Amino acid sequence: MPGRADGHKHLLSIAELEAADIIGLLDSARSFAEVSTRPVKKVPALRGRTIVNLFLEASTRTRMSFELAAKRLSADVMNFSTSTSSLSKGESLKDTGKTIVAMGVDAVVIRCPSAGAPQMLTEWVDCSVINAGDGMHEHPTQALLDLFTMRERLGRLEGLKVAIVGDIDHSRVARSNIHALNKVGAEVLLVAPRSLLPEKIEQMGVTVTGSLDEALTWCDVLYLLRIQMERVNESRFPSLREYTLQYGLTQTRWSRLERKPLVMHPGPMNRGVEIASGVADEVESVITGQVSAGVAVRMAVLYDVLGGSRG
Ligand code: CP
Repeated sequence: MPGRADGHKHLLSIAELEAADIIGLLDSARSFAEVSTRPVKKVPALRGRTIVNLFLEASTRTRMSFELAAKRLSADVMNFSTSTSSLSKGESLKDTGKTIVAMGVDAVVIRCPSAGAPQMLTEWVDCSVINAGDGMHEHPTQALLDLFTMRERLGRLEGLKVAIVGDIDHSRVARSNIHALNKVGAEVLLVAPRSLLPEKIEQMGVTVTGSLDEALTWCDVLYLLRIQMERVNESRFPSLREYTLQYGLTQTRWSRLERKPLVMHPGPMNRGVEIASGVADEVESVITGQVSAGVAVRMAVLYDVLGGSRG
């Protein structure tokens, strides 16, 4: 990843990476994946370094896998959440960041509801910053683990046909994946009602359809997204039932496919909405594979950002 004028390496977005950076991280993640298969799942690469997980929004997968990744690299880890911190007493993100870093921290992993907050944090703290999802902007490590999974399962990224289905408008996962897939030479088709697509999304180098059935005959990978009810403040479609009929991977749709694509989901899933429960069970190994890949990819990112030495 590119170094910065402040002397620290950060991972703020996929948009700022080159294809070679992405492939380099995926290759590094592949070698770190082996560590998780050992009886003693630890290497001393980041011994003596301290990482803070600053999660100001709910998370299961990203927070736990960053913690596990840091521990597998022998780093010291501190976890921080809004409800148990002085943020709940009105302290600003700037003062919180400065307070944390004054304790001698080497990297802050931040998940937050505001787009751009990780970038702002780099201006306030003297350490590396990793974006673990900022508002509707980007979720770079999610895209990296998704590409890792696609490459492991299908053997390539270049020329891969990926359909992303659902609430694109509110999705930082979709934005990071679009950037990443474009950079490595994959094709991206978005499947959603116009009301769940950002304006002028085609300018990101994607094509758009309203037909999931058309996408299913085309794609190698079907990437499903949930409707982000917590960010939707007005009705964008007639009803969830209507949405499922048009855009859901229902059992009927799945059963009639002769050539089944790789089905992926970043989680959390809403069974019965974007994916039928039976289909979710059938494709579970890929989705849990994405979660496992998350640990290896985050080990690779922490190692890259902090410039550790392999032991
Ligand atoms: N995919 C993802 O970011 O999940 P969490 O919100 O559980 O971290």
